[in-house]
Amino acid sequence: MNIWPVPQVKLGENSIKEIPAALDSLGADKVMVVTDQGIIKVGIYSKVEKILKDAGKDVVLVDDVKPDPSMQLVDAIAEKARHSGAQAVIGLGGGSSMDSAKVAAALVGNEGSIKDHLGVGLLPKPGLPILAIPTTAGTGSEATYLSILSDLENETKKGFGTPYIIPKFAFLDPTLTTGLPPQITAPTGMDALCHCVEAYTSANANDYSDAMAVKAIELISQNIRTAYSIGTDMKARENMLLGSFLAGIAFANAGVTAVHAFAYPLGGMFHVPHGMANSLMLPVIIKFNASAMKDRFGHVAELMTGKEGADWQDCINEIEQLCADVKLPRNLKAIDIPESAIKPMSVSVMDQTRLLVNNPREVTQEDAFEIYTEAWNR
Ligand SMILES: NC(=O)c1ccc[n+]([C@@H]2O[C@H](COP(=O)([O-])OP(=O)(O)OC[C@H]3O[C@@H](n4cnc5c(N)ncnc54)[C@H](O)[C@@H]3O)[C@@H](O)[C@H]2O)c1
Ligand SMILES: [Fe+2]
Repeated sequence: MNIWPVPQVKLGENSIKEIPAALDSLGADKVMVVTDQGIIKVGIYSKVEKILKDAGKDVVLVDDVKPDPSMQLVDAIAEKARHSGAQAVIGLGGGSSMDSAKVAAALVGNEGSIKDHLGVGLLPKPGLPILAIPTTAGTGSEATYLSILSDLENETKKGFGTPYIIPKFAFLDPTLTTGLPPQITAPTGMDALCHCVEAYTSANANDYSDAMAVKAIELISQNIRTAYSIGTDMKARENMLLGSFLAGIAFANAGVTAVHAFAYPLGGMFHVPHGMANSLMLPVIIKFNASAMKDRFGHVAELMTGKEGADWQDCINEIEQLCADVKLPRNLKAIDIPESAIKPMSVSVMDQTRLLVNNPREVTQEDAFEIYTEAWNR
């Protein structure tokens, strides 16, 4: 069994106040903060900037991250980082900002473009140390050796993995997520739920990933509705942040399965937000996979509902109910994906071999067509 390292975690209200001490421990006086305009607008960046400046840190700001960041964007950020003199990089935001920061920081220690290093474990040298501050409870990027980047030429997304992008520190501060609007809380929370359900039912699950996944399923399913409807509930927000962090560890060590594989063409071709794409595929994939893992899907249902003896069908019902409660769409036609896209998407998904190898049941080209057809029509 391989267990990936995890960042040192500071969890709790106002834990971001500990950022300067973390930077001191890394010997970093000048830091690059990588974020996006949404984070600037809601005042989260200015809060972090004040903490850094009050502690006498020099700050270099990069604030032009876009959702589903592209390889070109991270190359440009890396170039800025190389010339900035920064000694550490902070990823502040959702998965888009954290993934961009992680890759840019790693490229500083290496030559060339991210395109030269795609895949897992192919980056020759470490770069700058990374601090991750999630402002969504979703991707778990703050916990993982992975970043997901858009490949604009091929209209898909590619994974990049190296131990050098595991953050040194992660700050899970619920004061940064209490203002997250419900329409972002819902899909990002479902992304986190997919990570732990998929990790728990992966062909590569192990005792370590199981322990993380089980706790994450409990935390997320017990708190997502409150986080959605009463955004200011600090305890629900904190539990969502911890749940998505543990879900990140779970999937880093077990892999995600066909849910994420089928979500990628929806993101790449139609820019469906990552968490929404996953939530649209989750019930359909559970139905497809159930025969291979009945007991585990039953256990997921028990964890989600608290009902002993719940089975895989209850798992699907509970997830459908949850998606309805947080107002996520039920099928692909509801978000205007044309029926004619089913065929090209079912071809494209077969390239997601990195994820499909983790699926507990083999997926054929014909299966892929049927799965998308059901997801479109159900
Ligand atoms: N590295 C990994 O292991 C991993 C895992 C899953 C997904 N991802 C990737 O992460 C990206 C998605 O990340 P995401 O779902 O967190 O969304 P995101 O980072 O794209 O953010 C979505 C929007 O929410 C806004 N936002 C974020 N936090 C906010 C807050 N507290 N208040 C108000 N607005 C806020 C942002 O400004 C942005 O406009 C995708 O590119 C996906 O592929 C990476
Ligand atoms: Fe994800």
